[in-house]
Amino acid sequence: MKRKHIVGNWKMNGSAVVIDDVLDQLLKQTLPADVSVCVPSPYLQRAGERLAGSSLRLGAQNVSEHGDGAYTGEVSARMLRDVGCHLAIIGHSERRRYFAETDESVMNKLARLLEVGLFGVVCVGETLAERDGGRAEAKIESQLAQLHTLMARGATPKRFCVAYEPIWAIGTGRAASLEQIAQMHEFIKRCLGASYAVLYGGSVKAVNAADILALSAVDGVLVGGASLDAKEFGEICRAAS
Ligand code: 13P
Repeated sequence: MKRKHIVGNWKMNGSAVVIDDVLDQLLKQTLPADVSVCVPSPYLQRAGERLAGSSLRLGAQNVSEHGDGAYTGEVSARMLRDVGCHLAIIGHSERRRYFAETDESVMNKLARLLEVGLFGVVCVGETLAERDGGRAEAKIESQLAQLHTLMARGATPKRFCVAYEPIWAIGTGRAASLEQIAQMHEFIKRCLGASYAVLYGGSVKAVNAADILALSAVDGVLVGGASLDAKEFGEICRAAS
């Protein structure tokens, strides 16, 4: 069986003290999965130094759609690689909602990551109104459409995966049902190809992780709130075995 990917997204939370503490606790645990932690950008360098030589991977929560240059406030893919990142989350629904990211900018960001050899975790997800209106699959299909351009240029399953995060399940304590998750993951694999990994995100906790990770179409999970608690995140990682 392929190892599952567990990705922690700390969002805009934590401090130097918290990050040192959570990472040190994680480093002491045996984690039977491919585990990554995406910390806020000011702490990437610090976290990278702490994780050096360990099996835990460092990730960013965003990347500029531009290469290095006159883009004040932006962080390029090359810089992320420089400080030890292996991957970056792109197109998270919070970035689409609050920072007006579009499918086109997400595609550009993935292209920048691929240019420097970083792995992309491309987030997609529908609103509750879209699901209730029977438009969930159409929404996801449209969010994935631009990726085909990059796939035609060599963006293989080794270069990126998709994270299905229904917006109504994020931070609500109400994860999608196992049936909803399985259906959408199978749909995404039909759209892109069965070998593309699909992670689930949205209220993943220690109590539901084993059931979600046991689904054959689930290749891993993207964990928000619960990833800031080293004990709970460790339990989620162990649920992958
Ligand atoms: P929660 O796990 O807090 O619901 O967040 C999910 C998420 O947005 C991960 O990217």
